[in-house]
Amino acid sequence: MNGSGSSFAKPGFEPGPPLWLLAELTYRCPLQCPYCSNPLDFARSHDELSTAEWIEVFRQAREMGAAQLGFSGGEPLVRQDLAELIKAARDLGYYTNLITSGIGLTEEKIASFADAGLDHIQISFQAADEEVNNLLAGSKKAFAQKLAMARAVKAHGYPMVLNFVTHRHNIDNIDRIIQLCLELEADFVELATCQFYGWAELNRAGLLPSKEQLVRAERITNEWRDKLAAENHPCKLIFVTPDYYEERPKGCMNGWGNLFLDITPDGTALPCHSARQLPITFPNVREQSIEQIWKHSMGFNKFRGFDWMPEPCQSCDEKEKDFGGCRCQAFMLTGDAANADPVCSKSAHHDKILAARIEAEQAPRGLDELTFRNEKASKLILKV
Ligand code: FES
Repeated sequence: MNGSGSSFAKPGFEPGPPLWLLAELTYRCPLQCPYCSNPLDFARSHDELSTAEWIEVFRQAREMGAAQLGFSGGEPLVRQDLAELIKAARDLGYYTNLITSGIGLTEEKIASFADAGLDHIQISFQAADEEVNNLLAGSKKAFAQKLAMARAVKAHGYPMVLNFVTHRHNIDNIDRIIQLCLELEADFVELATCQFYGWAELNRAGLLPSKEQLVRAERITNEWRDKLAAENHPCKLIFVTPDYYEERPKGCMNGWGNLFLDITPDGTALPCHSARQLPITFPNVREQSIEQIWKHSMGFNKFRGFDWMPEPCQSCDEKEKDFGGCRCQAFMLTGDAANADPVCSKSAHHDKILAARIEAEQAPRGLDELTFRNEKASKLILKV
């Protein structure tokens, strides 16, 4: 790694530190979720950073002020050096978080991660129903393994943090999902309705719940919240609505190049996990230092500040709150990443969101119509 590269820094604009570092250690994964946020062309990427290269990334980012480090993927447990990476990150002073499906986890691994100093583990489930879970995951053993590992994580003294991605095929089961979380003694549960990036975008028509499904799920979640609060129960339920049912966009990543730094398995540095699809050349940690990337690269400076914004964002009094929404969503739906996120009702492209809602009202599609995320499907998309 070196510090070469042209400077595209914005005069008078000094970015704060990349507080939140996400290390996408690998795109390898034993599961095949049709809503995976990994890029469709992940099969192109085989050249993963080595242990030493990752540790150098952690060191440089920490020097820049990074404080939180998430280990993600693909499935990060596939990396045999995970405990070593966790230890190096903790020695550098990071707060560390493992984001995993639980597949490949064992009691021994949990113990070794705890010894290495891992602070936090989040396990994701596909459904509360074994059959649906295993069908979505593409593994007959996935559900039983997740249950066992969720219990083992809790037994090791970690807070139980569960993530359920909900969509039209499992959201009607929200009551059972919450019950399962309580049976597992979860402390935090993220009930995150699918957001449409990567494979989820490809499968959007088959995944987006209808308005009626969403309203019902939110009502049931709120009833559970009230019940748990009345009992002083420690479990916290977080319900995430999909952008497609909002009228104003989210302030994606808290602003482009503001605090989030994503490093992909091959060392490409991105301001968000989806940015690789944009027609922008992003820098690689094998060629440039983190400081050069963060402060001076064209990719990270492209949508910083407000002067890049066209109308209606430029004169909008909410631009400092939502930054015009999500650049990746604007690109996917309008072909231009600088446009206002079409989620916004002020966007000239908001009709795309309205059309998707109408599509979601139509007869549900079967699970078998989804394109599952795997190497073969990725190669087909790549036509290789
Ligand atoms: Fe890329 Fe929102 S996911 S800017």
